[in-house]
Amino acid sequence: MVDRHEGLTGGLTNYGDREFARYLRRSFAKSMGYTDASLDKPIVGICYTESGFNNCHRHFPELLEAVKRGVLAAGALPVPFPVISLGEVFLSPTSMQFRNLMAMDVEEMIRAQPMDSVILMGGCDKTVPALLMGAASAGKPAVLLVAGPMMTGRHKGERLGACTDCRRFWGQYRGGTIDEAEINQVEGRLAVTAGTCAVMGTASTMALIGETLGMCLPDTAAIPAVHADRLRAAEETGALAARLVGSNQTPDKIVTAASVENAMRVLLAVSGSTNALIHLTAIAGRLGIDVDLDHFNRLSDETPVVVNLKPVGQGYMEDFHTAGGLEGVLRAIAPLLDLNAVDITGQSMAERLAKPLSDPIDRTYIRSAEDPIERAGGLIALNGSLAPGGAVLKRAAATPGLLEHEGRAVVFSSLDDLAARIDDPDLDVNADDILVLQNAGPKSPSGMPEAGYLPIPKKLARQGVKDMVRISDARMSGTAFGTIVLHVTPEAALGGPLALVCNGDRIRLSARDKRIDLLVDEAELARRKVEFRPDADVPARGYQALYRRSVLPATLGCDFDFLRAASSTGAEGEPS
Ligand code: FES
Ligand code: MG
Repeated sequence: MVDRHEGLTGGLTNYGDREFARYLRRSFAKSMGYTDASLDKPIVGICYTESGFNNCHRHFPELLEAVKRGVLAAGALPVPFPVISLGEVFLSPTSMQFRNLMAMDVEEMIRAQPMDSVILMGGCDKTVPALLMGAASAGKPAVLLVAGPMMTGRHKGERLGACTDCRRFWGQYRGGTIDEAEINQVEGRLAVTAGTCAVMGTASTMALIGETLGMCLPDTAAIPAVHADRLRAAEETGALAARLVGSNQTPDKIVTAASVENAMRVLLAVSGSTNALIHLTAIAGRLGIDVDLDHFNRLSDETPVVVNLKPVGQGYMEDFHTAGGLEGVLRAIAPLLDLNAVDITGQSMAERLAKPLSDPIDRTYIRSAEDPIERAGGLIALNGSLAPGGAVLKRAAATPGLLEHEGRAVVFSSLDDLAARIDDPDLDVNADDILVLQNAGPKSPSGMPEAGYLPIPKKLARQGVKDMVRISDARMSGTAFGTIVLHVTPEAALGGPLALVCNGDRIRLSARDKRIDLLVDEAELARRKVEFRPDADVPARGYQALYRRSVLPATLGCDFDFLRAASSTGAEGEPS
C-alpha cells in the first residue's frame, strides 16, 4: 500500500492561509462527488490523449478503465486529465511541429496539478516522445503505457498493415499497375483496428525505446492494442503507478546514460525509425544526456539487425509480439547491453535478462546475434562536406546497389517546388541522378515534415525505377524505405551546404565510409554562400513564432533551446 503522499494538497498555493486553500480545494473536488475516503488517498494522475483526431488512440476509453482499476485496487485515486493529442496524419504542416508544444503541456500540467505520480498514456508517433520529454522535465514518478500496435487487414489473401503497404500500393497505382477501384478498396483495408501503425515505424520504435529506457512495465511495449493482455498491462501499470507514490523513482533515475545507450542499441537492432533518433536525443537532452552521432556510429558498427519486420523485412508488430517482443531482442543483443540500467519496477537489466523466458523466441521474426539479418549498421550517421553537422541513413532500408553511389544533383528548392515539378514530363532526370530537397528542415516554414521520402518522378516510376538516392534536411516516416539521406545538418534554411547545391553538381554517397559529399570546390561554394539569402518570412506571433525562434537542429533532437537541460558537453542551444 501507498504512503508518504501529498494527495490533493500537493503543490497548494496558499497566499498565507494554507488551511483555507486546502478547504477550498477539497470543496471543489467534492463537487465531483468524491468522498473523504477517496480524497484522502494519494493521487495518480493520468495524462490522457484520447482525441477524435487520433485514430490510434480510439481504444483509450477501455484502456483507461483498466488503468483506473489498477490504481484503485492498489489504494490510490486515479485522476485522468487531458493533454494535447497528436494524431499523426491529421496535423498540418507536420505533427513534428507540435511535439514540443505537447511536451510543454505535459510538463506543466504534471507540475501544476496535485498528483503524486503519473501514468503517461500515448502511442501515436509524436505522443510518446512528447510524454517522455515532458515527464522527464516535470520530475514526478512516471510510468508510460503505450497504445500498442494495430492488427493487420486483408486484401486478396494478402496481409496489409499501415503504413508500409500504403506506400507499396500507392507506388503501384502511380506506376499504373493497379487501378482506381483497387486503390479505393485498399484504402479501407490498411488500418483496421485501434492502435499504432502495424510495422516497425516510429510509434513501434518509440514504444520499444520507452520500454528499453525503463519507463514502461517490462514486456508490454509490443502487445497489440486490441489484445486482452494490453488491458491487463494497463491494470498492472495502474497498480505500479500507485506503488510509485512517495518513491524517489523520478524519470532522471530511470533515463540515464546507461539506459539511453541500451535504447540506441535497440533502435539499431530493430532497424527502427530514423525519427526515433531525434526523439531519443530530445528525451535524453531533457536530462543532460547527449546523444552523439559518432558514438551512435560506434554502436551501429557492433550492433546486429535482428528483427525481420516491415518496412525493412517481412513481418508486422503482431508477429513481433508473439515471436518474443522486446524480450527477444534484448536476449539477442544481451552482451552489448549495459546491465546496470534500472527500470521503473526497480529491476536492473541484469535481473531482467537472468529470468527464464516463458516462451521460445520465434526466429522467423527475431533472429539471434549469430544469425542476424545484417551484421551491423541498420541505421548510420553520415558526415561529409554536404552534412558537416551530420545526417542519417537507414541503411537497412536502402537499395544495396545505391549505398556507394555518385550522381548528378536534381535540386528542388522547397516542398512547393517539389510538388510543382517532380512529375513534369520535361524534368531533366535519370535513374542515376540524386534527388535533393532543400528547405524542409526544422527551421523551414514546413517545420521538418516527413518529406524526405521524395517520390520517384512519375516518368521514371513508369519505367520501373523503384529507388534513387534522395537527400534532404527533412525526416522520413518510419514506415518508409529507400536510399534516403535525412536530417542533413546544418539545414538549408540556415545556409548549410545543402542550401548551396545546384542542379548538375556531383554528390557522392558512401555508406561504407559514412560520408555524404558535395563534389564542388570550396571557392565556388564560398561564392554561392555570399549569395545565400535566408527566408525573411518568419512568423510574427504565437506558437509558430516561438517554434521558429527556438527549435534546435535534428542533431539536438529538435527540442527548444530553452527546454533542454544543460549538458556535460555544453551542447545545448547551439545550432551545429
Ligand atoms: Fe498513429 Fe501511425 S498514425 S502511429
Ligand atoms: Mg510515422
